[in-house]
Amino acid sequence: MKVLVVGGAGYIGAHTVRMLQAEGHTPIILDNLSAGHAEAARRLGVPLEVVDLGNKEKVAVLLAQHRPDAVMHFAAFALVGESVSHPSKYYHNNVIATINLLDAMRDQGVKRFIFSSTCATYGNPTRPTLDETHPQQPINPYGWSKFMVEQILKDYDRAYGIKHVALRYFNAAGSSPDGLIGEDHDPETHLIPVCFQAIQGKRNGVTVFGTDYDTPDGTCIRDYIHVDDLAKAHIQAIDYLLKGNPSVMLNCGTGHGHSVREVIDCVEAVTGKKLNVTIGERREGDPPVLVASAGKIRSLFGWSPKYTELRPIVETAWTWFQRGGKYEAR
Ligand SMILES: NC(=O)c1ccc[n+]([C@@H]2O[C@H](COP(=O)([O-])OP(=O)(O)OC[C@H]3O[C@@H](n4cnc5c(N)ncnc54)[C@H](O)[C@@H]3O)[C@@H](O)[C@H]2O)c1
Repeated sequence: MKVLVVGGAGYIGAHTVRMLQAEGHTPIILDNLSAGHAEAARRLGVPLEVVDLGNKEKVAVLLAQHRPDAVMHFAAFALVGESVSHPSKYYHNNVIATINLLDAMRDQGVKRFIFSSTCATYGNPTRPTLDETHPQQPINPYGWSKFMVEQILKDYDRAYGIKHVALRYFNAAGSSPDGLIGEDHDPETHLIPVCFQAIQGKRNGVTVFGTDYDTPDGTCIRDYIHVDDLAKAHIQAIDYLLKGNPSVMLNCGTGHGHSVREVIDCVEAVTGKKLNVTIGERREGDPPVLVASAGKIRSLFGWSPKYTELRPIVETAWTWFQRGGKYEAR
């Protein structure tokens, strides 16, 4: 299958491109390189179209030129704090640009769409079990932008027959085990790479935001899902849509949580080095616990994560950081 991977030069997109190749598919990357890396496409030997999704005309031309069998859409801005101070930027890039893509698909008769949604669409959990029926009440423009796209997808399915799988990721983590590709964000806000940057002296240390939560060690608990397990879910989503199944929105997480303190301990154990840890105030809008109930994706796709423990996830990320933890300049 020819698959257009929008945002494929980014972290999760590049890992999915690699798995598409391994599974015999033909990926093409569309990316504006605002956060992605041409070097990732080069390392994978995949064609890269440098196009901004906001450019409706160019997106239409590209869809007409390639006529993919499916589109995977990873492209978005994803910094929660920035979305609060610059909502316009987020709604333009995450919602309006997505409409450009969907309209081009509709015009070219491309009917399969796999979307990177997020657990941030749930907002603050109101019950311990975070399954897909949990109410969606986002608490920041980033979460709203993804929630809006989910609604648009339902409407485009009904009206234009574009079938979707929306995967609500929890915390993506880790890297390709050989360290060929990995996580390179600037600024980096994700806990595991932040820890490694501190270990490597690229930042002063790590701040723990809140140690008085109602959790066993007082720090926030998150569900860390290995990026290759996320990639696998995308491959299975294609198979699912190819069989003519109906559109669906699914959680994608391991179902197990790890606290910030546990992650720090794990990084120290893997590297054999001590982190300089500062205790900070709680951040607004940080729920104490975010752990997926992932029964639906397991039963529907037969998906199950290969990485069920924190340590091997952290080890793969460390491999990437030992290889430099960065791509060449864009
Ligand atoms: N990383 C996580 O833990 C996580 C969790 C939940 C959801 N998500 C979602 O998954 C997706 C991928 O996340 P990531 O961590 O790989 O992010 P990333 O920033 O590494 O990748 C996003 C890619 O999209 C590209 N892009 C952005 N806007 C574009 C535009 N207008 N036109 C063309 N390309 C554009 C960027 O250059 C980048 O390569 C995002 O949609 C994000 O919201 C990520």
